Amino acid sequence: MNPTGSTPNAAESLNAGRCCDEHCHTTKQETTLAPGGTPAREPERARRNRRWVVPDYGGPEAMTFAEEPLPEPGPGEVRVRVVAAGVGYPDVLIREGIPVYGSHADYICVPDWWLVPVPAGLDPAEAAIVVFNYVTAYQMLHRTACARKGERLLVHGAGGGVGTAVLELGRLAGLELYGTGSREHREVISALGARPIDYTKEDFVTRVRELTGDGVDVALDGIGGKVALRSYRALRRGGRLVMFGHYGTLVQGRKSTRAIALFYLSGALTFAGNVLPNRKSVRAFRVAKLRDRKPEWFREDAASLFQLLMERKIKPIVAERIPLVEARRAHENLGRGGVTGKQVLICDEEAPVRTGATR
Ligand SMILES: NC(=O)c1ccc[n+]([C@@H]2O[C@H](COP(=O)([O-])OP(=O)(O)OC[C@H]3O[C@@H](n4cnc5c(N)ncnc54)[C@H](OP(=O)(O)O)[C@@H]3O)[C@@H](O)[C@H]2O)c1
Repeated sequence: MNPTGSTPNAAESLNAGRCCDEHCHTTKQETTLAPGGTPAREPERARRNRRWVVPDYGGPEAMTFAEEPLPEPGPGEVRVRVVAAGVGYPDVLIREGIPVYGSHADYICVPDWWLVPVPAGLDPAEAAIVVFNYVTAYQMLHRTACARKGERLLVHGAGGGVGTAVLELGRLAGLELYGTGSREHREVISALGARPIDYTKEDFVTRVRELTGDGVDVALDGIGGKVALRSYRALRRGGRLVMFGHYGTLVQGRKSTRAIALFYLSGALTFAGNVLPNRKSVRAFRVAKLRDRKPEWFREDAASLFQLLMERKIKPIVAERIPLVEARRAHENLGRGGVTGKQVLICDEEAPVRTGATR
């Protein structure tokens, strides 16, 4: 909520229509493509827009629920009704005042070229996870790291939203998988076909070397900071490190100035590894940036992943379906840690949603 009553900017709002980015993929796709391509029904109460905003940065208590007139699309934009939307670390970063983008709202306006078709009959919560986490995982594996069958892959946060997607897709691609996570995630990491490494108790570089001899071919690092420097060390000669997250800028779900300074310093040192003569490479990945540069890849990859979802070759883990009005609880859960898979906000509680076991 903007105290002046004007249009909120990215820093103030969890759902400013004009600034949505990664999560808008989710939003627009879920809503654009109502089952069978029919226009989504407009529930009476949703003729106003409910959304979460952040008047002052801070913890989950800084989130304020607002009800406003529907946002009006600008030129080249469409207004999308949100059925379900994932909640993840980018949302926590916005809340803490770190500039990335996200959205928690009934309606959002996005550029029309962002829309992609969602096949009829899918669970909106699973479709939301596919669009954000699985496209991220798929593009890191196949567009950026170009992982090949039989290669070794290490992913951090392997029990989380992106991590579980990486493991499912890595298994389908025939990779040898290693995943870091806390003890609580050991079981799910093993069930997804990876060797779990408890980063709270073990040095993951030492453990990777014990298990592999000379290291991994690909490391996917959504933590950053000192972890990124060590991920580089876990690579074998010719290995590829993909850095894709800011998780390391937060301490127990809250922004830490010291952690941010360390994050950028360590990041710069890690990228300097590109000039060393060991044929290791370091690249950064952002799903929104790649979508803007290569929209045809985004459409192609989303379509392939929806096909896998329909064939049940991938089974996104819905940690919990949380009504939009309870979004603050989703943030509290993220701060505590131990969330397996992805929490999903359900905006239209009357939308057809499969319930029960999510795997
Ligand atoms: N670049 C992009 O396009 C893009 C797209 C999506 C997400 N992201 C970023 O990717 C990161 C992960 O997102 P997510 O949605 O998967 O988050 P998530 O579901 O909260 O999972 C993150 C996991 O990281 C684990 N973790 C925390 N500290 C760790 C450490 N030091 N070593 C290893 N694991 C650690 C936690 O596991 P435990 O609970 O087991 O401790 C948690 O499950 C975030 O930084 C997010 O911003 C980037």
